[in-house]
Amino acid sequence: MHAATTIEPTTHEALPARWYADAEQAEREQHAIFRRTWQVGALAHELAEPGSYATADVGGVPVVLTRDLEGELHALVNVCPHRAMVLATGAGRAKLLQCPNHAWTFTLGGRFRHAPRADREPGFCSDGLDLRRAAVCEWGPLVLVNLDAGAAPPRRELDAMRASVAAEGLDLDAVVLTGPVVDWDIKANWKIVCENYLECYHCAVVHPDFSKVFDVSAERYALKPDGDLLSAATPVKATRKVDEQQAVLRTDGGAVAGSVWHLLFPATTINVYPGEGAFEVTWYWPLDAHTTRGRTAVFLAPGTSAGYAEQVTALSLQVGEEDNRVCEQMHRGMASGGIERATLMEVNEALLVAFQRRVRELLG
Ligand code: FES
Ligand SMILES: [Fe+2]
Repeated sequence: MHAATTIEPTTHEALPARWYADAEQAEREQHAIFRRTWQVGALAHELAEPGSYATADVGGVPVVLTRDLEGELHALVNVCPHRAMVLATGAGRAKLLQCPNHAWTFTLGGRFRHAPRADREPGFCSDGLDLRRAAVCEWGPLVLVNLDAGAAPPRRELDAMRASVAAEGLDLDAVVLTGPVVDWDIKANWKIVCENYLECYHCAVVHPDFSKVFDVSAERYALKPDGDLLSAATPVKATRKVDEQQAVLRTDGGAVAGSVWHLLFPATTINVYPGEGAFEVTWYWPLDAHTTRGRTAVFLAPGTSAGYAEQVTALSLQVGEEDNRVCEQMHRGMASGGIERATLMEVNEALLVAFQRRVRELLG
């Protein structure tokens, strides 16, 4: 679907501004949204080997992802049922999960195994001491987790993303992680950050270099809301100033023709860059009502040149900084009480409208 050129009058009401700056609202969203939807828990290569584990924070809950010695993947609540100690930290290899407090042990599948001195406790019963389970699924270079243990993986959305990435010419299973995985904090509510990602109405103004490479016109920048998958796609800009464009990003002779920008609700973004081919994942989570943490990993098509990799990383960083600046200023405005709610542009911000609808739905 292509975005139309004319702007219709809005009929949807935007979320109340106070929802972006309120601690109780942030807590409601952790429970209703982040603990009931799919989040990135780890990168697949961290859990490739039997006996490996990685940790994550999901909706404010510590989670440990493991691949047990038989090769099966698990996601477990990473909290000791004894005195609530967080069990595992970081990532690594282990045969068992052992609590660093009183040394209770659990299998990598989360089964209670042993509590020292329990034999001196006549009333000790190990029933109910297994670690709580979460749902888990693998998708290309990512491992996704959902604290709702009964949740089915978002197959339709994941298949659609896989197909769209493949249609651009990138093999999701062959991409190679490049550079460090980077964490960054934004002084803005997570909804501001995601909403900003979902519209390119700001691109020509906020991202002048990005807009030299990508066609950000309303005619070519196509928006497609589809369930929990909110997508945009655009070709490389037709321009006579090829030198200027390629100073930002080389796109000639590459395998990947255009760009795609997906958001898997609520807060995982996946970008495919044109040219030799890069695949960038950023997942966000709220630290509080006023702060969002993003974690970014960049993957490249095999055999990509160092120059292209540098250009993608530099462009991503530049766009990220430009977005952060506007997100922080929007958050200041939104949190100030200066307006009651924002104004939605239903056509240019169709993905943002769909995002807000889903936020409302989950909050009931
Ligand atoms: S808190 Fe984990 S063993 Fe005591
Ligand atoms: Fe932006």
